Amino acid sequence: MTEIRKVGICGAGGTMGAGIAIVAARAGFEAVSYDQSSETLARAAKQTEGFFTKSVERGKMSDADREAVLGRMSSTTDLAALADCDLVIEAIFENLEVKQELFGKLNNICADHTIFASNTSTLSITQIASGCGREDKVVGMHFCLPAQLMKLIEMSPGLNTSDEAFKLAWNWTEATGQIPVKTQDKPGFILNALLVPFNNDVIRAVEAGVADPADIDKAIKVGLGYKMGPLELIDLIGLDTQIRLCESFYPVTLDPRASAPPLLRRMVAAGHLGRKSGRGFFTYDSNAMFGA
Ligand SMILES: NC(=O)c1ccc[n+]([C@@H]2O[C@H](COP(=O)([O-])OP(=O)(O)OC[C@H]3O[C@@H](n4cnc5c(N)ncnc54)[C@H](O)[C@@H]3O)[C@@H](O)[C@H]2O)c1
Repeated sequence: MTEIRKVGICGAGGTMGAGIAIVAARAGFEAVSYDQSSETLARAAKQTEGFFTKSVERGKMSDADREAVLGRMSSTTDLAALADCDLVIEAIFENLEVKQELFGKLNNICADHTIFASNTSTLSITQIASGCGREDKVVGMHFCLPAQLMKLIEMSPGLNTSDEAFKLAWNWTEATGQIPVKTQDKPGFILNALLVPFNNDVIRAVEAGVADPADIDKAIKVGLGYKMGPLELIDLIGLDTQIRLCESFYPVTLDPRASAPPLLRRMVAAGHLGRKSGRGFFTYDSNAMFGA
């Protein structure tokens, strides 16, 4: 197996999966989007069309290119449709058992050469691969949000990942125009090890009434030169996803800063999930896909 042609994306109705499918199809690969929810797949397909329409309007691609890239994309709620994929990237809920179960099922469906990649933010690649039946072909492939705009991918081998599988996956990320960096299979890799506690600190600052969310973001953007404020970023990540990140990160690090702040839990209980629900630390008119 020396070439990846067809890519399956699991959880492609979600924030990350939808963006990863765009990255794959835009680079010329056939991209099959799988999700257990047909509603989220339909929403992602609509947002994806809108994203490429905007790209045409902005002169970044031609009409013909838009049609061609959309022609390479398909959606399914049937996992068996990923049977002939050479690479399957999962971006489903941040939960170890759920990811392990998915890879176990895929192992019985996909060809022997198929590489499995996990977009996990905080879980161990070695543990996700454990028991799936092809531990040597599982890699960490952590995209950044929004995947369709951000170039970085943190690539990490598990303890049993073969050099060959890691190289093939690495080469694929470069072929898509992304920029991979290699990290160890450590909780949070590079970015989330720093970001999860930091974002929680910012939420605690809101909870303590240090300043309004807009002023906190403004201070960090103007004072530190960040392009995006942390609260705006958490709204984009999704407050529910931030809780899942804390829940998988905190037990392995026991860093109190990584535990979910009470305000975060209250906001999620109230349905304030961020950009995707129209309200988080800020309010939003539409949940259109970020950028084009
Ligand atoms: N949101 C971020 O900023 C971000 C950034 C990088 C990586 N990640 C990682 O990407 C993954 C997904 O995060 P997200 O924010 O896109 O979540 P999300 O909740 O937006 O989407 C998850 C999707 O997975 C689907 N799903 C859940 N279980 C499934 C299963 N068993 N089979 C098929 N589909 C299933 C859901 O229907 C949903 O559409 C997580 O591992 C997360 O840590 C998230």
